[in-house]
Amino acid sequence: MQISFASIELPKEGAVAFLVEKDKPFAGLAAEADAAVSGALSKARDIGRFTGASGQTQDIVAPNGIKAERILLVGIGETSELAEADWVEIGGAVSAVLSASGSKSVSVVADHVDVDAVSLAEGALLRSYRFDKYRTKEPEAKKPTLEKVAVLTSTPQKNTEAFAGRQRVSDGVFMTRDLVFEPANILHPESFAEEIRGLASLGVDVEVLGEAEMTKLGMGALLGVGQGSAFESQLVIMRWNGAGKDEQPISFVGKGVTFDTGGISLKPGPGMEQMKWDMGGAGTVVGLMKALAGRKAKVNVVATVGLVENMPSSTAQRPGDVVTSMSGQTIEILNTDAEGRLVLADALWYTQDRFKPKFMIDLATLTGAIITSLGHEHAGLFSDSDDLASQISKAGTDTGDKVWRMPVHANYDKLIDCPTADMKNLGGPAAGSITAAQFLKRFANDVPWVHLDIAGTVWSEKDLPLSEKGGTGFGVRLLDRFVADNCES
Ligand code: BES
Ligand code: MN
Ligand code: ZN
Repeated sequence: MQISFASIELPKEGAVAFLVEKDKPFAGLAAEADAAVSGALSKARDIGRFTGASGQTQDIVAPNGIKAERILLVGIGETSELAEADWVEIGGAVSAVLSASGSKSVSVVADHVDVDAVSLAEGALLRSYRFDKYRTKEPEAKKPTLEKVAVLTSTPQKNTEAFAGRQRVSDGVFMTRDLVFEPANILHPESFAEEIRGLASLGVDVEVLGEAEMTKLGMGALLGVGQGSAFESQLVIMRWNGAGKDEQPISFVGKGVTFDTGGISLKPGPGMEQMKWDMGGAGTVVGLMKALAGRKAKVNVVATVGLVENMPSSTAQRPGDVVTSMSGQTIEILNTDAEGRLVLADALWYTQDRFKPKFMIDLATLTGAIITSLGHEHAGLFSDSDDLASQISKAGTDTGDKVWRMPVHANYDKLIDCPTADMKNLGGPAAGSITAAQFLKRFANDVPWVHLDIAGTVWSEKDLPLSEKGGTGFGVRLLDRFVADNCES
């Protein structure tokens, strides 16, 4: 999708979208166009019972007298209530409605209210994404037609400049979605690592550790998860140095289980295909690095992703096994399906040990329990730092990638204490997401730490304002914004 900004005048072709406030008559260019066709737009609006309520749209064939082919009315509700995240969704609605409408271009007229044109354009771009590389027989009538969105404003030059960064961030979101959609026969630990090497073209330094190196480092927790797979486990380290050489880095860590069968503690068959996106944490971290490097963020960042496949096989780890993590802490495996925390245990320890970051933020599709708690609206945020928690929460409200803080407290620790080893990888039926977080905290070594459990937000079973059914790219815009607002020099 090509996005541009231009000055306010009725286009001679394609579609025109007018933003309409709730229960208000047409204003600005929409009012002029309506007058030019003797009120035909008002008539269509009344017949269609279009009120301008937020999210409502009406598609009208342009009457004679208007050169464009169609008029789209887009309800924006009460403008006094509109925040950035709402403008992004309004842009998304334009894209969604016109995507396969037959129109190739749309001009969104942003004239009579205080429109956040840049966010609107970002939403239109984000919603235009689709993963269709494996659809070879799609009917012509269903194929997308919309190629260009122009937002018409009084400050097109200024908007163009402001949008450049958002474009780079969207590129990162799209990379995350591509990775999340990709099936596990194509995206496995080795091919995933290869894919990440591609970030080198943006100036990201990429290093890949295989099983031999990880064995030397003593990463028994991560390696145990991957030991049943035919693919070699990988730890990939990405570095973006956008600030001074001596500036301490910030860091991100991602769970990259390219397929989670549960291992010997095998998951039930129905729905297991969903576990192809159990690498969503790693996918988000990679997309975030693409965004940060793409817009040349003025910050030093280290990102680590643990890539493994959790398979049942004669070489797989068993319930009852005890593994020793790189930290030296031992773990009794009570359920091989609680594997994400094992991967992160070594990835977190390695990251703080080698890079001494200011803080670590991990992302993981860690627990089904977070979906029970928060559904698919908010990701769970766990942290021992109130500052980081509130900064990330604010970025969530602004971007629409919403998070909700969950507790971290020493009293939950006894749920993972264990007589056999230093801890067990299973907390029992109560507080499943919290005991998983307590487990991770033991590997952060007192470095300020945030854990985002994104199991409910990586994938959507229905179309959303900014994405079709499937990978959402959740977290890239969230953390890009967090970095932009709080970490750049
Ligand atoms: N990858 C899953 C968590 C998950 C579930 C992600 C649903 C997305 C959707 C994780 O590895 C897992 O299997 N967790 C178990 C933990 C349990 C065995 C303690 C779970 O949530 O059931
Ligand atoms: Mn699992
Ligand atoms: Zn998993």
